[in-house]
Amino acid sequence: MIYLDNNATTPVHPEVLEAMMPFLTDHFHNPSSGYRASKPVKNALATAREQVATLINARPDEIIFTSCGTESNNTALKSLARLIGRKKSRVLTSAIEHSAVLRPIEAMAAVGFETRTIGVHEDGRFDLEELAEHLDADIPTFASLMWSNNETGVTQPIAEACALLKEKKAVLHTDAIQAVGKVPVDVRAVPVDMLSISGHKLYAPKGVGALYLRNGFRLEPLLRGGGQEGTHRSGTENVPYIVGLGKAAELAMNSGNSQISELRDHLEKRLSSEIEGVHLNGSREHRAGNICHVSFDHCEGAGLMILLDEAGVQVSTGSACMTGKQQPSHVQKAMGFSDERAKSSLRISLSRFTTREEIDTAANAIAKAVKKLRAIQSPLTGPVQVYR
Ligand SMILES: Cc1ncc(COP(=O)(O)O)c(C=O)c1O
Repeated sequence: MIYLDNNATTPVHPEVLEAMMPFLTDHFHNPSSGYRASKPVKNALATAREQVATLINARPDEIIFTSCGTESNNTALKSLARLIGRKKSRVLTSAIEHSAVLRPIEAMAAVGFETRTIGVHEDGRFDLEELAEHLDADIPTFASLMWSNNETGVTQPIAEACALLKEKKAVLHTDAIQAVGKVPVDVRAVPVDMLSISGHKLYAPKGVGALYLRNGFRLEPLLRGGGQEGTHRSGTENVPYIVGLGKAAELAMNSGNSQISELRDHLEKRLSSEIEGVHLNGSREHRAGNICHVSFDHCEGAGLMILLDEAGVQVSTGSACMTGKQQPSHVQKAMGFSDERAKSSLRISLSRFTTREEIDTAANAIAKAVKKLRAIQSPLTGPVQVYR
């Protein structure tokens, strides 16, 4: 199998697994216990906090470990909602956020918060003029704007958005789950107030995440109890997974992404030159190096995905959460794509482990699958659904 769906999840890096193992076996102790055996566990937590902080240029005491990216986003949104209050405040977000931001914001709207959504240009990047129109220094404002999109890989003008928001004294949370480890993320250079990270997007296991909380910010915790994580997130720490996340952060610091983007560029060159009616979607210039988001005229993405799966190539049509849903992706609709174009897209996402041979095999399989689907669906009959 050739795995090209690394934006859905990455495999656990062997060095990450190796770092985790002692904390699943000998060092099983509770990091809060008082005896000597808990010392290495406590130290491992501190090391992981430092590793994650270093990756984004934060301080270790600004990192809170969570159970996943969704928890990090919900913690940021719900606690800020409580802090700014419902009256005369405003919550801003974008039309291309992950559901782990959109759903909590919908819940806030349902209980009376004023929420506003900014659009994106055709290249998938925020409309900064629209953002500026929604800002008013007299209205306490909280914004949640992603750093890099999970479907298209397009990196957002987050530095510019942050500057606009800071000028109006607004608070900014960013979902950087698809950015961290793929593009430079520096919270001193771009002074966001909160930032979400998820382990399984950067070669750590599923079920661990982190929230960066700028020093001086207090959270209204989602989980109250024993007061772990500086009282921001109670619950005994998932030490083996946190150690894994720390190791993954260290590996991300020390490994470049240029080899991945060269392979991605090679794939795109092959697809564009060997198949007709191919559209590479989103900004060419501002995007993570591991992702190719592509549409094929007169070819349904869902059908392509199934044919490719049968040919031993795993890709997706949008985000993993969208797969199986019949609606066109909200991200592509926000970019102004027609339903047909949005439904004819594939997301192909590479990893550090992807090889040139795999890319060449995948390109051959995609060309073959597109030809096969086009033969059974014409522009007149419209897309044909392929069922297993
Ligand atoms: C941009 C983005 N935000 C949030 C999430 C949710 O992260 P997790 O799966 O760790 O809850 C994902 C995962 O797909 C994502 O891509």
